[in-house]
Amino acid sequence: MARIKISELLKNGANFLGEKLEVKGWVRAFRSKRFVQINDGSCMANIQGVIDFDRFDEKALRAISTGAAVSLFGTLVESQGSGQSVELQVETFEIIGIADPEAVQKTILQPKKHSLDLLREQAHLRFRTNTFGAVFRIRHAASFAIHKFFNDKGFNYIHTPILTGSDAEGAGEMFRVSTLDPKNPPLDDQGNIDYTKDFFGKQVNLTVSGQLEAELAALGLGQVYTFGPTFRAENSNTSRHLAEFWMIEPEVAFNDLFDNMDLTEDFLKYICNYILENCAEDLNFLDQRFTQEQNQKPQNERSHLGLKESIEFVTNNPFKRLTYTEAIDVLLNSKAYKKKRFEFPVEWGVDLQSEHERYLVEKEFKCPVILRDYPGDIKAFYMRQNDDGKTVAAMDVLFPGVGEIVGGSQREERLDILQAKCKEFDIAEEEIWWYIETRKFGTVPHAGFGMGFERLVMFLTGMSNIRDVIPFPRARDNAEF
Ligand code: 4AD
Ligand code: MG
Repeated sequence: MARIKISELLKNGANFLGEKLEVKGWVRAFRSKRFVQINDGSCMANIQGVIDFDRFDEKALRAISTGAAVSLFGTLVESQGSGQSVELQVETFEIIGIADPEAVQKTILQPKKHSLDLLREQAHLRFRTNTFGAVFRIRHAASFAIHKFFNDKGFNYIHTPILTGSDAEGAGEMFRVSTLDPKNPPLDDQGNIDYTKDFFGKQVNLTVSGQLEAELAALGLGQVYTFGPTFRAENSNTSRHLAEFWMIEPEVAFNDLFDNMDLTEDFLKYICNYILENCAEDLNFLDQRFTQEQNQKPQNERSHLGLKESIEFVTNNPFKRLTYTEAIDVLLNSKAYKKKRFEFPVEWGVDLQSEHERYLVEKEFKCPVILRDYPGDIKAFYMRQNDDGKTVAAMDVLFPGVGEIVGGSQREERLDILQAKCKEFDIAEEEIWWYIETRKFGTVPHAGFGMGFERLVMFLTGMSNIRDVIPFPRARDNAEF
């Protein structure tokens, strides 16, 4: 007898009526020694097995407990009860793995509402809950949709290195990788650690971005993207930052900033559509969860849209596009500013804080926003200088709930200006000679962006803490599992 997955059973139930089947999964609940709910992770819904308890001995039945792994054999019939269309009339069953009920009591497997904090502490078990099943199935679907989007457009997926010697973003928030003896490292004449003796003969870190290497690839292959882990030793212990997160970075030769904005908007809309079309069951569950959570918040902090509505809103409406300079004017003229509600200063030249970004998206425009042409001083060295001499061709996409979801730019393709920028930003040309050299041989305008994958999954699932959309979060003081 072949095992059948629950998703298939529930999708094509009618085709299997009257057939003998085997279902495997974990027990979610067992009522009245008769109705057992099994989940195998293939979908949100459980299959109900109906057990005729007179036919089995007490001890065997006792092993069917919450958390145990079982295999049920029986005939698929139309369900007598409400709540499911089909159920399995169990003829025999096997316990594959027991779960001691007393031990289960101490875990999140116990069927009741648990706090997200507790679920995080038991991240090894949270895959078995409805919420995390839904979140990680949607995470998978989004990842697939991203590859499909780029593949259909003829992009090449490039694997950029995880170990690098350069700091692409220049923010100095890198994790060093070394095989030197920490107790007794080799020292140079000045008494500093001598990294020429280290594994790679130089100082090496975990990458903060694959962009610089993606640019090299785009300047030959035309259009490429990366999708890999990135690492930032940021001290910001917020609900939107991780020390290890996944980033998608497309890079396109001959694109300017406006092409880049169009690509970003198409890309985000495509993924949102894909999830709406392919993840209905999980999305419906998370939509209800989101609404319940919103209802517990004070009125003025509630989202005015439900989860599905806000995803639909993204697919159905053009993003609002404006310059950084225009955004500063909007903020300076806002009630929030006049009533001194912003904690951080607003004036031309400052980096926008999340409170400002959220104001623009959630209060002022009530839709996704693309800001562009930021002051050069607050952005990375590789962004293309605008003619005004003050701003660069940068763009950030701001989303409701999550704030900055995408950061990108047109890149500086002019050799002399790029070299001047390196000097200004104190970047040694020897370290990125290979990057600069591409501007000597057939340099072209090009542009790209980076999307934080977990920020996207936050938006798609309505989860408000980034640690709940990645299986095993790494953040300050947190590398368990
Ligand atoms: O804006 P960022 O720093 O841009 C870059 O790294 C560029 N190299 C991208 C490019 O043009 N190819 O980061 C891009 C995105 C952010 O918009 C945000 O969504 C996400 O990465 N991000 C983080 N996500 C989670 N935790 C963190 N600590 C993050 N830092 C950035
Ligand atoms: Mg950014």
